[in-house]
Amino acid sequence: MARKLAFINYKGGVGKTSLIVNVAACLVQKGKRVLLCDLDTQSNSSIWLLRIERWNRLNMEKRGSVYSILEPGEDRIKDLIVKDVIRDNQGNVQLPGLDLLPTTFNLIDIENEFAINPQNPHYLIFNEQIREVEKDYDFIVFDCPPNILNASQLAIFSADELYVPANPDALSLIGFTLMIEKVLLFYRRSAGFRTPEIGNFARVAGVVFNSIKANVDIGVPKMRMQLRMNQFKKQRLVSNEAKIYNTTIRDATIVRRAVTLGLPVCLIESREANDGVGQDYHDLADEILAHNVNALVPAAASS
Ligand SMILES: Nc1ncnc2c1ncn2[C@@H]1O[C@H](COP(=O)(O)OP(=O)(O)O)[C@@H](O)[C@H]1O
Ligand SMILES: [Mg+2]
Repeated sequence: MARKLAFINYKGGVGKTSLIVNVAACLVQKGKRVLLCDLDTQSNSSIWLLRIERWNRLNMEKRGSVYSILEPGEDRIKDLIVKDVIRDNQGNVQLPGLDLLPTTFNLIDIENEFAINPQNPHYLIFNEQIREVEKDYDFIVFDCPPNILNASQLAIFSADELYVPANPDALSLIGFTLMIEKVLLFYRRSAGFRTPEIGNFARVAGVVFNSIKANVDIGVPKMRMQLRMNQFKKQRLVSNEAKIYNTTIRDATIVRRAVTLGLPVCLIESREANDGVGQDYHDLADEILAHNVNALVPAAASS
């Protein structure tokens, strides 16, 4: 079954989208089959991977993106997935094996307009359909908005690992703390819907420091984050296997350029001088492959 990873932090602009797109592409280059689910109402990863023209067409249609599994509720995830999403202008596949469940701006309606059925909430509908496609992938990764409202709940309920991108600033630490509180609250509220088939709540896999400038020493922010993590472990709020990732991602202009080009960094490097950030994403993908929090503990002990 696929490993299901959600990238989430209560802070925006920390690198959730850039990490998820670039790590997903690296995993595909390592031979993994990956589905990226865009659950951010801002549609950043969908616009990045589909590029603006294709995404615009989808956005106008009102159907064909993730919200249509809820409203009008006739579509299923398996039919909405865009296979081998990265194409050139002629439609040639650039990275076979990277699929996208796209979102458009209508996903914002899940926060207000959509009438949630308390007996069959949005995250249960999503989960049931994700389980239908799970066998087709090694990894399913969820890009989230910077909150734990309804759209993020789709990801958090279905994920089995949580990754928290952070920058070396105090706000990222606050974002992490707030996120843990809100995630646990959501776990309590949704506990009644967990069945053995759905599996356990997602475990916090770790914190990934992103966008590190060359002359910046992140020793102190890393230590602060580690202290907070230890505190949470002691309170049994996060699993003992959660860690601060050894790999950090450097700040590099190519990351921003990649968005404009509609490509992950690993597909640009061969064409342009590489400043090393591509290797960081590969190292992070390797570290994720080696650190499967759920495989590290016996199933009965996980929470
Ligand atoms: N390692 C990096 N180096 C340079 N710019 C980055 C890096 N990571 C992210 N960015 C830029 O920072 C901005 C926010 O990143 P993004 O991944 O969209 O964050 P989030 O999804 O958490 O809001 C984007 O413009 C992105 O291109
Ligand atoms: Mg984002």
